[in-house]
Amino acid sequence: MSTASACAHLSDLFPGTSALASKAAVSQLIEAGILVELSSNLDHQENRFDECVWQSETMAHSLATRRVRWMAEESEVEAFGELLREQAIPALWNDLDDDGTSWQPFGVDLAARKVFQIFGLRRSLRQFGSKPLAREALGAVLSSGLGIQGFLQLPFRPTYPLRFTPSPGALNVFTGYLLAHNVLDIRSGIYAFNGFRNQGKRIGELPTAPLSTLFGNQQWANEAAAICILCADYQKMSWKYNDPSAFNSLLIESGHIAQNMMVCAAALSIGSVPTNAVDQAGLEQLLGLTFPHQAVLYAIAFGHEDPHRSRDHYSASTLARLREIMEVDDGAKSPVRTTPC
Ligand SMILES: Cc1cc2nc3c(=O)[nH]c(=O)nc-3n(C[C@H](O)[C@H](O)[C@H](O)COP(=O)(O)O)c2cc1C
Repeated sequence: MSTASACAHLSDLFPGTSALASKAAVSQLIEAGILVELSSNLDHQENRFDECVWQSETMAHSLATRRVRWMAEESEVEAFGELLREQAIPALWNDLDDDGTSWQPFGVDLAARKVFQIFGLRRSLRQFGSKPLAREALGAVLSSGLGIQGFLQLPFRPTYPLRFTPSPGALNVFTGYLLAHNVLDIRSGIYAFNGFRNQGKRIGELPTAPLSTLFGNQQWANEAAAICILCADYQKMSWKYNDPSAFNSLLIESGHIAQNMMVCAAALSIGSVPTNAVDQAGLEQLLGLTFPHQAVLYAIAFGHEDPHRSRDHYSASTLARLREIMEVDDGAKSPVRTTPC
């Protein structure tokens, strides 16, 4: 249906609401996913809906966050500034030691020292420099989360793949894809990662639009040497798990995979930042995945630090605006919406 006939159709449906029947209103309804353009990605997704693999409650759980729209930094600072100024900040860590009761110290086993030293190297990094990642370093990072170390054979059950990270039912439903932009000996492009063989296969070109558009408008996405995207195979998961907690399990599993990758990266002096601010539908289209069989859930960006930049991810102008808001601001209030964390 053309925009003009969509306008006419809306006037028929809602007589007397001329505001709805304008081109601008139609574009807004399309952007919000209330109207669906024929042959668009969303239209294809909707047509595949009856191929849905999960029971409806599980699917509703996974759908609830699919169309989050992330703010740009200029809007985010308005909302966050207002929050900081107008609402008490909750305690960001718990120190329960002030209630007069006695607590018993646990101590830390010295045998954990080595692993703690490595954990201590991980810090989210958002200022990536131009130094490329070494291919083997990237291979190690990806393998630490998705690599298959061995197999478990138990009577009457499938042969289970075992990774460095736990997986519900050992179903191993995650595949990693890579947007490689600055990796030595690896041509820029989109790669699928084979965790069994620690190999990558180039499956396409990087998009021409800035990658930040796919990751909540965050500038670091344009500068990272590589971004790993974790995609879950809903169909495989539903083979065994179909109840609403199946989706929780996937989110938790993606966190385990990402954490191993980030700690491994830190051990190799590579910086990383995770994000759930992913344009799921956009990335799935880019990677050639078919929702609702497969879905993008989480992503981790990697690269070497640019030591000449501040670790504060706010730009100078955003910081100046935050100062303004915190000191005095009588301007119009903006509604609080979802922001990348
Ligand atoms: C689920 C999740 C999502 C996150 N999303 C973002 C994000 O979109 N952008 C970002 O810059 N950091 C993101 N972070 C990183 C947190 O901001 C960061 O972990 C936190 O500030 C603590 O800093 P640290 O990672 O250096 O310990 C995310 C972390 C988690 C666990």
